[in-house]
Amino acid sequence: MEGKTILVTGAARRLGSVIAREMHAAGANVMLHYGQASEAAAALVAELNGARPSSAACAQANLLDVDSLPGLVADTIARFGRLDALVNNASSFFPTPLGTIDLAAWDDLMGSNLKAPLFLTQAAAPHLLAVRGAVVNITDIHAERPLAGYPLYCAAKAGLLGLTRALAIELGPRVRVNAVAPGPILWPENEVFDRAARDEIVAHTLLQRAGCPQDVARAVRFLLVDATYVTGQVINVDGGRSAHL
Ligand SMILES: NC(=O)c1ccc[n+]([C@@H]2O[C@H](COP(=O)([O-])OP(=O)(O)OC[C@H]3O[C@@H](n4cnc5c(N)ncnc54)[C@H](OP(=O)(O)O)[C@@H]3O)[C@@H](O)[C@H]2O)c1
Repeated sequence: MEGKTILVTGAARRLGSVIAREMHAAGANVMLHYGQASEAAAALVAELNGARPSSAACAQANLLDVDSLPGLVADTIARFGRLDALVNNASSFFPTPLGTIDLAAWDDLMGSNLKAPLFLTQAAAPHLLAVRGAVVNITDIHAERPLAGYPLYCAAKAGLLGLTRALAIELGPRVRVNAVAPGPILWPENEVFDRAARDEIVAHTLLQRAGCPQDVARAVRFLLVDATYVTGQVINVDGGRSAHL
């Protein structure tokens, strides 16, 4: 990835920040998108630039504002001159039991998990095509086997998985498009899973433990760097949970 540039959404914290660090360690220049976590984004930019000068920058955007998405790509090109890889990682996640679903929840979950990845990839496509780049969408094992109580989130991630395959067709042969589907890696900060729910989820993994963000980041790196004959695919990083649901 030396001399190449990657744009990661939702990269200030949690999984996104670890993906950004992994790709930076692989030699890439990194544009970190963030929504609200401005301090964390600035701190990560400082850390990465401390390791390698002028190798990281950040840009804020509310991904629900589709009109702001071309600006993220333009900022990346203005700062680093090229765009080789896009990781659509940002996501909102909250329960939407049937009967409670309103348009605000639809707009938030569909917007962050499906609509923004589509329009951001569309904006990035000319630059990715020019350099034979790649896209990785972060989906979820529940895209294929829905989680009770989360129909909108699961439908949005199912859409993102479908979009991954469709865009692999649209952008081939020059651009590869793949997905990584995490299982239990980092518990949500909004504490939607209590201790009993967490224990049950982990008990259903074949490896009998939660994963760590590096597990996801290494799969992203594999797809972006090593998997030169892989497109339109998804890798489940879930300790075997999807084999055992
Ligand atoms: N954590 C897991 O175990 C797990 C399991 C399955 C799938 N996944 C998937 O893996 C990815 C990363 O997971 P995570 O747990 O690290 O995600 P997360 O913490 O829930 O969210 C990642 C980031 O998304 C950004 N974001 C959300 N809505 C946004 C909006 N409208 N505009 C701009 N930014 C927005 C937020 O950025 P700011 O903080 O800057 O606002 C947030 O930090 C997600 O796609 C998730 O669905 C994770």
